[in-house]
Amino acid sequence: MISPCTGTIVSNEQLSRTIWLLRVEAPVIAQQVEPGQFVQVRVTSTYDPLLRTPLSVHDSDPDRGTIDLLYQTVGTSTQLLSNYREQMRLDILGPLGKGFTLPTGPKSSFALLVAGGIGIAPMLLLARFLMANQVSTRLLYGARTASDMVRIDAFEKLGVTVACSTDDGSYGVRGNVVDLLADFLQSGAGGEIFACGPTPMLKALQSLARERELAAQLSLEAYMACGLGACLGCAVAVPGGGYKHVCTDGPVFAAWEVEL
Ligand SMILES: Cc1cc2nc3c(=O)[nH]c(=O)nc-3n(C[C@H](O)[C@H](O)[C@H](O)COP(=O)(O)OP(=O)(O)OC[C@H]3O[C@@H](n4cnc5c(N)ncnc54)[C@H](O)[C@@H]3O)c2cc1C
Ligand code: FES
Repeated sequence: MISPCTGTIVSNEQLSRTIWLLRVEAPVIAQQVEPGQFVQVRVTSTYDPLLRTPLSVHDSDPDRGTIDLLYQTVGTSTQLLSNYREQMRLDILGPLGKGFTLPTGPKSSFALLVAGGIGIAPMLLLARFLMANQVSTRLLYGARTASDMVRIDAFEKLGVTVACSTDDGSYGVRGNVVDLLADFLQSGAGGEIFACGPTPMLKALQSLARERELAAQLSLEAYMACGLGACLGCAVAVPGGGYKHVCTDGPVFAAWEVEL
């Protein structure tokens, strides 16, 4: 069920030059949210920016009634969000969309989480659910440079094994995270893949998954207007023609389900 609510900000912490961690009281969303779902926040009461901003739920604490959002300041909305301080109120709509399908069955005891850049955002809640279901979870995390890498400690605290890559080699191995995944698979290890990141990364991962017949779920980013399936702002092409809505049919899709 989608609940509009006005949440109270608990904290809004700057983690890196452009990445912030926002904790907000939103008890109904904290109870209902599933990994990979997102919320739409309205960062201003004026008409500029007009549209709400979609952000993945990074973590939730149903007992305390809080959700965490991890966001990168790229433009007007996210800059405005970084001005929010403790005790201020934020208009939130959610949880929205179809999140990750958690693995079931005997072959599903290993999960490979593949995150590029701010694609790390939905992965912590997913890791929390997987670890709670005794799924052995490994995170492959790529970013441009060491100072862009955040929240590794939160994954390690859950018991997730973390391997990193950076474009400039300043943290982990030098290269991109899809190459890191390919090297990992080369060693004979496997597991179901759950990925989020920029479209070129997801495209490369989709090719790898198709080539090697790997089970993979991709969380897509798209420009969104309504976020509710009512416009065509977020259409993504599907094989054989037609399209799906990222906001309601996704944002998570099986790798074979969409044309990137
Ligand atoms: C389902 C979903 C979940 C998301 N989760 C997160 C999250 O957890 N954390 C996070 O930081 N961001 C997330 N995003 C992206 C985030 O919504 C956009 O970065 C944000 O709306 C940008 O708004 P802005 O006004 O700050 O920037 P704008 O001024 O709107 O844009 C600044 C720059 O970012 C580009 N941009 C804007 N929106 C998108 C988009 N959706 N995809 C690709 N490029 C875009 C623009 O082309 C421009 O270059 C998510 C997007 C979707 C669709
Ligand atoms: S954003 Fe309007 S249909 Fe998806």
